[in-house]
Amino acid sequence: LISIVHQLNNRLFLKGQQDNAFPLVIDDPPYGIFSEKKKTGFLRDYATQAEANKWDQRPESKYFQELFRVSKNQIIWGAQYFTNDLPDYSQPIIWDKKTGESYFSDGEMAFCSFPGTLRIIPHQWAGCFRDSERGEKSILAGQKPVAVYEWLLKTFAKKGWVILDPHTGSGSLRLACYHLGFDYVGCENNESRWQAQEERFQNYVRTHQIYKGRIPFGLKETGSDPFGLKNIKSR
Ligand SMILES: C[S@@+](CC[C@H](N)C(=O)[O-])C[C@H]1O[C@@H](n2cnc3c(N)ncnc32)[C@H](O)[C@@H]1O
Repeated sequence: LISIVHQLNNRLFLKGQQDNAFPLVIDDPPYGIFSEKKKTGFLRDYATQAEANKWDQRPESKYFQELFRVSKNQIIWGAQYFTNDLPDYSQPIIWDKKTGESYFSDGEMAFCSFPGTLRIIPHQWAGCFRDSERGEKSILAGQKPVAVYEWLLKTFAKKGWVILDPHTGSGSLRLACYHLGFDYVGCENNESRWQAQEERFQNYVRTHQIYKGRIPFGLKETGSDPFGLKNIKSR
């Protein structure tokens, strides 16, 4: 199984890739909302403007052109912020964070190039109220649950596909790929974050097994086990 994160600016990485090199890219770029002073709620205090400007830069149009050039299928978080750079699509994906009446955002939305209709992933993620990874320390503010990435992989990816993740962050998608047996290639240009996701990955490998040959595509959501993970036998 390949699982590698290049400590590199993804622009450089993409430049070196052939057309359609990756069957699927699942991307989570900076949304450019802190640096544009659209901060709301508790996020207002999260970063100073100078800090935000350093890391919260919305990718330029050329970036999205490159992303579509090197990949056959795309899932891109923050779809509502990138409408000018994305084609028409029929299957938006909403991750419902089940935040209730709190001031947390109700969810996140992704562009999805696969044909279909709107999909909703229910998975609570509101401070310490969460359906997974309870008590685990986050590496960054926008960290997504491994379970949500597993839902995406189980729903859309086909066995044998290499998954591209140009903004690795904490490496949640990397863990999901490892768990479900997908090859994974990522980029993370922040040195300390690269180190942190690497340690998280190595710890994860020590405690998890790959589901060998039994990736349960199309598994339906059931009761308290929304991702059907208990139905999967590990090797
Ligand atoms: C929104 S976070 C990704 C969060 C990730 N999905 C997770 O669950 O942890 C974006 C990440 O991309 C990294 N990044 C930003 N610009 C980049 C670039 N040009 N090349 C590589 N990494 C970049 C940032 O350092 C940050 O860690």
